Amino acid sequence: MPSPFSALWRRLGRRGAALALALLAAALLFTLSRYAAVSSDLPSPSPTYGHRLPTLVDLTLVYDRDALCLDGTPPGYHFLPGFGQGSHSWILHLEGGSWCRNFKSCARRKKTNLGSSAHMDSRVEFVGILSDDESQNPDFYNWNKVRIRYCDGASFSGTVQDEVKNGTGFFFRGQRIWEAVMADLLSKGLSRAKQAFLTGCSAGGLSTYIHCDDFRALLPKTPMVKCLADGGFFLDVEDISGRRYMRAFYNDVAWLQDVRKKFPRCSSDMEPGQCFFPQEVAKSITTPMFILNPAYDVWQVEHVLSPEGSDPQNLWRNCRMDITKCSTKQLEILQGFRKALLDAINEFKNRRGWGMFIDSCFIHCQSMKAITWHSPSAARINNKTAAEAVGDWFFDRREVKEIDCEYPCNPTCYNVALDEPYKQD
Ligand SMILES: *[C@@H]1O[C@H](CO)[C@@H](O)[C@H](O)[C@H]1NC(C)=O
Ligand SMILES: *[C@@H]1O[C@H](CO)[C@@H](O)[C@H](O)[C@H]1NC(C)=O
Repeated sequence: MPSPFSALWRRLGRRGAALALALLAAALLFTLSRYAAVSSDLPSPSPTYGHRLPTLVDLTLVYDRDALCLDGTPPGYHFLPGFGQGSHSWILHLEGGSWCRNFKSCARRKKTNLGSSAHMDSRVEFVGILSDDESQNPDFYNWNKVRIRYCDGASFSGTVQDEVKNGTGFFFRGQRIWEAVMADLLSKGLSRAKQAFLTGCSAGGLSTYIHCDDFRALLPKTPMVKCLADGGFFLDVEDISGRRYMRAFYNDVAWLQDVRKKFPRCSSDMEPGQCFFPQEVAKSITTPMFILNPAYDVWQVEHVLSPEGSDPQNLWRNCRMDITKCSTKQLEILQGFRKALLDAINEFKNRRGWGMFIDSCFIHCQSMKAITWHSPSAARINNKTAAEAVGDWFFDRREVKEIDCEYPCNPTCYNVALDEPYKQD
């Protein structure tokens, strides 16, 4: 059973394949299989943009008695060494892929790459913020780069010590996975980093909020440590039927994996799932963070705002898949969703050292695809791509607090259009 994320990108991929012929000349630039059809034709990439296929990087498993994926297999990461001026700088990326909320969905997940290293690809492409191609990743291309695999189902936050049995066995050890992977990387040179950057997208974006200060604490000798959460600002809002679907979902995850222990500062009046939302987690973060998030995050529109169960008549089906198909009334609700995001991040806007890039695109995770991170087709705010904005912020070249105008005002937006909806557990 694929996760909602992998299902999303697979579906995008089918559309992408149709575009592939037309773009064959440009195909070396992007891994098309990942990209969606776009709302407008892709501009032809400049001849100097991108030179080659993405680098493939091998999986390294981490053997630690206590750090285990859902099914008991060892966790892992992919490491690409830095070079030149980037040799002493490290960028880590925490993989995303939703969460599992009960034994049934976790049992399905155990049979996938998101619950077991036995199902992970042994090599993955490094693209976007992990690319070693300067034209695609201008500021971080020569850094040491690590993509940390996600196989615990609770954003590296589960704290259950014993194996849990229900028909079959489960390990809810995300926190131990985080610790074991970090210990391994520290011994491989991370501890001597001059600059370190923790990033992640989607559920990995949430993981980044959760672990940012832990990361800072592991690197006492590193002068510059910052974090970037991409597409990870999940909102605690009512959905179109007036229910708090996402909070109920997070409550389940938090109970199942005993996530509450990870948030000792979260008020005891709150439901456990509430403590898991970025708005709560971010309150206590002291390390500089960058919030990269679209105002109309396609995953959130599908799963937070209009989950299938809250739309029995399927009135949101088309809008959920393609923002150009939303009715006037639905667009009003989407504008309300954008406002809820802006209200939620408002308290972080004036924090010293924090940055943000809130574009008005219909997309999810913009740092892990060449086309949305830094390309002629990438969304821009004030003429800067996400890669340029994040680079400017990381290196203190300027203050970056970019908030885009309302949809459909930004003609540079790269909006996805899905072929069919996909199901969530
Ligand atoms: C085991 O899982 C089933 C559903 O898969 C559930 O009904 C049952 O309550 C669970 N048992 C325990 C001990 O949690
Ligand atoms: C936008 O940025 C590009 C370089 O990325 C530059 O060539 C172009 O002149 C800029 N446009 C404006 C209006 O500033």
